[in-house]
Amino acid sequence: MTVIDDLNGSIPESAAVQRRLWSADPEGWAAFSEPHTRPLFLAVLDAVGAGPGIRLLDLGCGTGLLPALAHGRGAEVLGLDIAPALLAVAERLVPEAELHVADLQRLPFPDESFDAVTAVNAFQFAADPVAAFGEAARVLRPGGRLGVGLFAEPDRAESTAVHHAMSRLSPPARAGDHAPYALSEGDNLPGALRSAGLVVTDDGEVECVWAYRSQDDAVHGLMGSAGGTRAVEHAGARAVATAIRAALAPFTDRSGAVAMHNMFRWVLATKQEDVMMNG
Ligand SMILES: C[S@@+](CC[C@H](N)C(=O)[O-])C[C@H]1O[C@@H](n2cnc3c(N)ncnc32)[C@H](O)[C@@H]1O
Repeated sequence: MTVIDDLNGSIPESAAVQRRLWSADPEGWAAFSEPHTRPLFLAVLDAVGAGPGIRLLDLGCGTGLLPALAHGRGAEVLGLDIAPALLAVAERLVPEAELHVADLQRLPFPDESFDAVTAVNAFQFAADPVAAFGEAARVLRPGGRLGVGLFAEPDRAESTAVHHAMSRLSPPARAGDHAPYALSEGDNLPGALRSAGLVVTDDGEVECVWAYRSQDDAVHGLMGSAGGTRAVEHAGARAVATAIRAALAPFTDRSGAVAMHNMFRWVLATKQEDVMMNG
C-alpha cells in the first residue's frame, strides 16, 4: 500500500509548522519514542474494541505502531498524519494499512466511514482541537467509538522536566507551536469532546515508562521530538543536548540507564445513534 497525499498542495500554516517540527528524525521517533507509548495504545485499542470487523482510523499515527497493533488484532486499519516522513516509516511497519497525508481538521473521508477512530497525543497539536474532534465525529458511524489518549497533568509526568528544559531554549513568541499538555488539565479533553457533540462514556489512566539504555539514547530520542526540534532550531544541538542531559540526571541510574515514569489518560467517546422520536 502506498501513502496517499490528500493535501493537494495546500497545507494550513499551523499544520505546516507541525509537519516541520515532527519530521526531524522519523527513525529516531520509531526507535526511541513511539514504543514507550505501547501501554496507552493497548488501552485505547481495548476501549474502542479494535478487532475483526472493525474499520479503524488512527489520527496522528506517526510511525505506525498503533496501526500495527490494531492490524494485529484483526481490524481493518487506516492511518493519517501530516508528516510524510513519519508515514514512510509506518508504511514499512504496517504495509497492510492505508496511510494518508492530511490535516486533522480536514479528514479526506466521507461521513460515517469508520467504526472506530483513535488518536494518541495528536489532537492537542491541531490548530482548533474542537474542530478536529468534530471532523472525527463526522467520519464515525452512529454508535462508533472515538478513543483519545494523551498526557495526564504535567506534574504527573517525570518527563515534564525535559519538556521545560527544551522549552527554555525555544522562542517564547512561538510557545503555542508546541503545547503537548494543552488538553491534559481537568475537564479540557472531555469538555472538548462534548463540545464536538460526542458523548463521553469511559476513561482511564495508564503509566508509560520512558526507558533508555543510556543518556545518549535518551538525548537522541528526545532531541528528535517536536519540542527538541524547536529548541535545536533556536539554540543549536549542542546546547539542547546539554540541557536534556542535566534534566535527565535525577532519572539516570548508576549504570547510566534512564527511566521516567509518566502518567497518561485515555477517554472514550461515542457518536450517538439517531434517536427516533415517536408521537
Ligand atoms: C506526539 S506525535 C504522536 C504520534 C503517535 N500517535 C504516537 O503516539 O507515538 C504527534 C503526531 O501528530 C501529528 N500531527 C500534528 N499535527 C497534525 C495535524 N494538524 N494533522 C495531522 N497530524 C498531525 C504529527 O506529525 C505527529 O506524528
